[in-house]
Amino acid sequence: MLKRKDLIGLIDVNAEELTEILDTAADMKRHLRDGDKQLPYLRGKTVTILFYENSTRTRTSFELASKYLGATVINIAAGSSSVAKGETLVDTGKTLDAQLNDFLIMRHPMGGAPYLLAKVAKAGVLNAGDGMNEHPTQALLDMLTMREHFGRLEGLKVAIVGDIKHSRVAKSNLFGLTTMGAEVRMFAPETLIPKGIDKLGAKLCSSKQEALDGADVVMGLRIQLERQQAGNFPSLNEYAEFYGVDGKSLQYANPNAIIMHPGPVNRGVELTGKEIDHEKSRIEEQVFSGIAVRMAVLKLLNDYRNHQA
Ligand code: CP
Repeated sequence: MLKRKDLIGLIDVNAEELTEILDTAADMKRHLRDGDKQLPYLRGKTVTILFYENSTRTRTSFELASKYLGATVINIAAGSSSVAKGETLVDTGKTLDAQLNDFLIMRHPMGGAPYLLAKVAKAGVLNAGDGMNEHPTQALLDMLTMREHFGRLEGLKVAIVGDIKHSRVAKSNLFGLTTMGAEVRMFAPETLIPKGIDKLGAKLCSSKQEALDGADVVMGLRIQLERQQAGNFPSLNEYAEFYGVDGKSLQYANPNAIIMHPGPVNRGVELTGKEIDHEKSRIEEQVFSGIAVRMAVLKLLNDYRNHQA
């Protein structure tokens, strides 16, 4: 059993817990593929989705996952909440607790915000992305997609190319994948590599060829223009040429390699249009995995809540 009230990051999630989440998500995915969207493990429960940043796939995916599990779902956009009137996160948490919410799903531009909410709220808190810190369910859906293709995570060579510094996806993948025994390589302009990431288990590469050499997974990352200070790279064209994934660079990878990207993609920058739509691309499969993973995490956290009650 996943013995947790919250899921804030993968930094402290062990291999046994990751395997339980991925096995449960694989089960959920089988049900969804069979057209079975009524799995009422959360019947009678309330989920509030609280997003302080834009999202397409994560927000809708959490909403669908909660609804397929039979929960009542409330959506709060930051602009329409009392945060806009100056209410603190702690007071928001207390208010949502008083309304007997069972789960709060939060995306926030500040790293650590979901951790603070989890400390004050009785409801379980799921981090849907906090600043440049973590995006645990994105990494879990990436891991599920890889495991389905290769039948394992251990020993896989995963090349993550792009804006590592601003990427919560890269950090959660690094934690989850290395815990499961995969090798995580990273390649980016020096200005977009966070200091000390190699000490967390990443293998830093000095060329695209080194990163992609024999790689099983080639993952592009979105250039996060909204989080950039000016001057991290000369121009988008040059970025695309030196750090973008195209047909030529894919020749270095394992012939069986898959192409991944958490989305949204800047077409022609991180990946060429041809690579996005390539038969090796798993970008749409990642989106499908996302619903199953979020259903799995909600179910397992709810099992623990029921056990504790
Ligand atoms: N991958 C991801 O987090 O996408 P959204 O910003 O659309 O949720």
